[in-house]
This record gives sequence, structure tokens and C-alpha cells, in this order.
Amino acid sequence: MPERENCRLVLVLFPLQGHINPMLQLASILNSRGFPITIAHPQFNSPDPSNYPNFTFLPIPDGLSKGSFAAKDFHSTMLAIHRNCQEPLRQFIQQTLEQKDPKDQVACIIYDAVMHFAQKVASQLNLPSINVRTSAAASMLAFAAFPRANEQGYVTFTDSLIQDETHELQSLKLRDLLITMGENPSDTILELRAATTSATRNSSAIIVNTIHFLEEEILPKIQEYFPEPIFAIGPFHKLAPSSSSSLLKEDTGCTSWLDKQASRSVLYVSLGSVASMNEEQLLETAMGLAMSERPFLWVVRPGSVSCAEWLELLPKEFQEIIGQRGCIVKWAPQKEVLAHGAVGGFWTHCGWNSTLESICEGVPMLCWPVFGDQGLDAKYISHKWKIGLELEGKLERGKIAGAIRRLMVEEEGEVIRQKASAFKERAEQSLGTGGSTNSSLDELVELILSFQPQCKTAD
Ligand code: UDX
Repeated sequence: MPERENCRLVLVLFPLQGHINPMLQLASILNSRGFPITIAHPQFNSPDPSNYPNFTFLPIPDGLSKGSFAAKDFHSTMLAIHRNCQEPLRQFIQQTLEQKDPKDQVACIIYDAVMHFAQKVASQLNLPSINVRTSAAASMLAFAAFPRANEQGYVTFTDSLIQDETHELQSLKLRDLLITMGENPSDTILELRAATTSATRNSSAIIVNTIHFLEEEILPKIQEYFPEPIFAIGPFHKLAPSSSSSLLKEDTGCTSWLDKQASRSVLYVSLGSVASMNEEQLLETAMGLAMSERPFLWVVRPGSVSCAEWLELLPKEFQEIIGQRGCIVKWAPQKEVLAHGAVGGFWTHCGWNSTLESICEGVPMLCWPVFGDQGLDAKYISHKWKIGLELEGKLERGKIAGAIRRLMVEEEGEVIRQKASAFKERAEQSLGTGGSTNSSLDELVELILSFQPQCKTAD
């Protein structure tokens, strides 16, 4: 489709892999509907513009040093980004608007929910803004309720949900959820969460990377709390043309190893782009994988094991024990791996992208949430949707091997495996004509066009 005039969308990215991927996918989806795209991003962890020749990239000076950051630095990084990026973003958009070139007239700012300063920029410039949730819709309520939950020392979402004892979310063991989101959040964290919620309330719409059927009970509850229209147009990765947004080099050699494995026999193990393990957890994981007797493809990100560069803490005999049964890489082409017919299980930290990617390929999950929204996703997967099992408590080799076999081999896991396949079908239906995702996307496009009366298709 030719690009529309007077309808540029500025998308504001948060510079973590789990946020960059869905935002660039969303940008591709909207670009395929004719909207010209500018990607505004902090310089830290910049995406590669050469993978997106149609987009204009705007690196914003952020004052951060190069390199990756661990989960513990998350909030200080966020604060620095908020402090340093707001004014440069405002100046850039203002200059663009003043040039009055129809190709560059901005219709709307679309921002990752954690980049809430972008909503302030939109309001300073009298532009509409759309808030994007790259995590499950339910996490919005968890964020919104945090200050009160903390005061009460009790796990809660919103008043209406506490009072509604029959509501399904009550079964999600919310105390566990709060623990993984930070049992005693600092004032800074609470402040950031409150600002995120307030920006969400002040936006013109909310886009969520979820599929309607996954969260159909909670979406109306969220709508009570956030009055603007909510568009559930996930899974983004299935709608977007596939361009790589990986910050690390993917080891594509693992797909030829997968080609040699039996159908549905391999456990894929990955903890995403931020979570880490200590030495004991690494050893228990390695020995658990060995004892499970299943083939495995294991992603160990360099630097993701404390006090180690990569695999040097593994005992020398580990390679001998596993022989050709295991393949260990630094970073995998995850979506291709999950879609490979040899993969029959995914041991995941339950980042939301990994969760959606696994659902879309019908792969049952072994959940080991580490921080943030991952506890919620794990409860969804294991308790509500029943398409996986949760590894609870301390990682221990016998427990790991038993759980892998239950998920992938034993009779007990059959019902989970079948349910995971059924979820794949339902996800596909949502993407078809008349499916929930497609219909919501059409409505979203209409809304954006209504923001800017001069929006039109270029000749
Ligand atoms: C972060 C948070 O930790 C997560 O909880 C939140 O929901 C999103 O932001 P991350 O931990 O990296 O994300 O996990 P996840 O959401 O699963 O995103 C990881 C992305 O990296 C996925 O799109 C996955 O396909 C990709 N990936 C992961 C690879 O391409 N290769 C790998 O080897 C591992």
C-alpha cells in the first residue's frame, strides 16, 4: 500500500529486546496499512535501521553508557531515560511539525507504556497518543494497583477485583504474582508505576499485544479502569513481516541440529534477554537436562550466569554425558526454533513475547518465572490456560528431570500437550478474516485516521 500523507506515526521504543521486538513488529503492521513510520529510540541498545529501510530512525541522546544491563538496574535505567529523552523528543517532533511537509506531518505518538514521558510530549504538542502494552493485559491492573497493594500488605488488583471473589483472577495465586513483581517495591518503583498508569489514563487509546481469547475475562475489567478504547491486536509477531530486530547475533546452526532430531522430541530452553542464573542454578539445570534423557537446545546468553563469561562453570564431564543429545548456543532464532517440528517443549522464564511465540506454535511450556510480569504469565500458563507446568521452589536436578518428562513424555502431560495444540488453532483463528485480532486492527486504523482530518493515501 502506498504511504499516506499527513499521517506519520512516531513510535517510541524502550531499549530492551523484549520491548524492541514487539514495538518494531507493531511499526511494521501499521506501515503495511500505509502509515509512514518514525522510530524514536534511546541510543542505548539501538535497533539496526538497515533491517527496516522504510522507517526513519531517530536516536535520542540518553546519557547512558554502552553495554547490557541486568534486571536490578532496570529502574535506574528507566529514570535516566525519562530524565534525558523527553526534551530532545519534543524538540524533534516540534521541528518536524513546523516544516509542514505532508510526508512528515505527525498524526500520533505511539509509545511503549514504560516510556510514559512520550505521553507528556504528545500533550505539550497537542497530539494524540497511544499507549502500547508489550506484556499481558492483566499486568496493567497489577501496575495500577501496586501502591495500594503495598500499603495494605495484601495482594490485590483493583477494589472491584478484590470484592469479586468469584472472579477468575482470584485463582491465579496473586500473592505469588506480587512476589515476582517485587515484594517490597521502593518509592522509585512505585512512582514509576504510578506515572505509567497515569500516562495510560491520559492517552487516546491502548494497544495490547495479546489475543482476545487469552484474556477475555480480564479485558472488560481493564476497560472499567481505563476508559479509552483498548485494541487487542496480538500476536504482533504473526502479523508483522519478519525482519530481524535481534540485538545479539542469532546462531542459525542450531536449526540444522534440530533437523536431525525426532518430531516433538526436543526441549528448547531459554530465559530471554535479561533473566540470569547463579552457579548452583546453572549446575542443577545442566544435570536436570542430562537426567531427563530428552534432547535439548539450550540458550545460555553470555553474561547470564553470575560470575561467568559463558559455560566455564559446567563440569568437564557434562559434554561427555550429553554427547550429541544437547546443543548449547549463545542466542537462537527463537521464533524459527519454536516453529520447528522437532521442538516439543519450551522451558521458559515466561517473558510475554516468549509466551505468545510458544502459544502460536502449540509448544507446551515449563515455566520458571524470574522477575516482573513473568510470575503472572506463569500462572496464566500453568493454572488458567493449563498449557504448561510451573517449576516451583528451588531448582533441583531430580525435580527438573521429572517435570520435563511429565511435560513431554508421560501420560500425565498428554492433556497439556493437547491443550497447547488447541491454543495454536485458536490463535490462528484470531488472525484470520473476521478473527478478533484482524477486526480490532481495522478499528485501530480507523481511529488513527480520525485523529488527522488531512490523512490521505498518497497518489
Ligand atoms: C522483557 C521482560 O523480561 C519480560 O518479562 C517482558 O514480558 C518483556 O520484556 P525478555 O525477558 O527478554 O523481555 O523476554 P521475552 O518477552 O520473552 O522476549 C525475548 C525476545 O527475545 C523474544 O521475542 C524471543 O523470541 C527473543 N529471543 C530470545 C531470541 O530471539 N533468541 C533467544 O535466544 C532468546
